[in-house]
Amino acid sequence: MNPPSSPLADVIRARRTVKSFTGQPIARPALEALLELARWAPTHRLSEPWRFYCLEQPAIAALARYLVAEPQIAQVPDPAKGAAKLAKLLERLPGAGAIIQVTWVRADETAIDLEDHAAAAAAVQNLLLAATAAGFASYWSTTAALVHPLTLRWCGADPAREGALGAIWLGMAAGAPPTVPARRPLADRLTYVSAVDRP
Ligand SMILES: Cc1cc2nc3c(=O)[nH]c(=O)nc-3n(C[C@H](O)[C@H](O)[C@H](O)COP(=O)(O)O)c2cc1C
Repeated sequence: MNPPSSPLADVIRARRTVKSFTGQPIARPALEALLELARWAPTHRLSEPWRFYCLEQPAIAALARYLVAEPQIAQVPDPAKGAAKLAKLLERLPGAGAIIQVTWVRADETAIDLEDHAAAAAAVQNLLLAATAAGFASYWSTTAALVHPLTLRWCGADPAREGALGAIWLGMAAGAPPTVPARRPLADRLTYVSAVDRP
């Protein structure tokens, strides 16, 4: 069966990871419109565990200066690769229209912490889909320098209490459209649970 077509289905399929942006800023009302939708994700006990730290372009430029000045950042993910990865990141950062650092507030109990992590990930997907529907490109990045505890603290998060979901880059896409990474057939990942032959 072909998947159904609908405005939502089209947005879900159209969302792509884009890593090159034109440098065009995103105005605050547009950012808030996206985050307003992100926060409608399901959340057990209505904990709303997500926290959004929004970096507009002046903050992105300031963060880039911090990443250069902080010697520990070039050591991640390991000292051999860190400097090259950081150089690539610094090249790309000025293109972003905005970056939203997303964290979730850690819970003491593992089961609740996992639920809260899942809820915050659902909020990120809402954000990505809302961005796609609004004509923005997006990129969910967990590159080591951006989720480093020092970077999170620089953004205003408390890494002792909050975990990193990732840095969500938003902006206008530059360059050739990204190739569409194929998905495996649904049947490879789907099991119908039979009612027969069960204890
Ligand atoms: C939690 C998470 C973290 C990700 N971090 C990175 C990253 O650090 N670098 C990267 O190139 N892509 C990252 N991605 C994006 C994936 O590479 C991308 O979703 C995948 O290639 C499928 O492409 P699509 O998003 O265009 O469907 C991340 C995705 C998720 C869900």
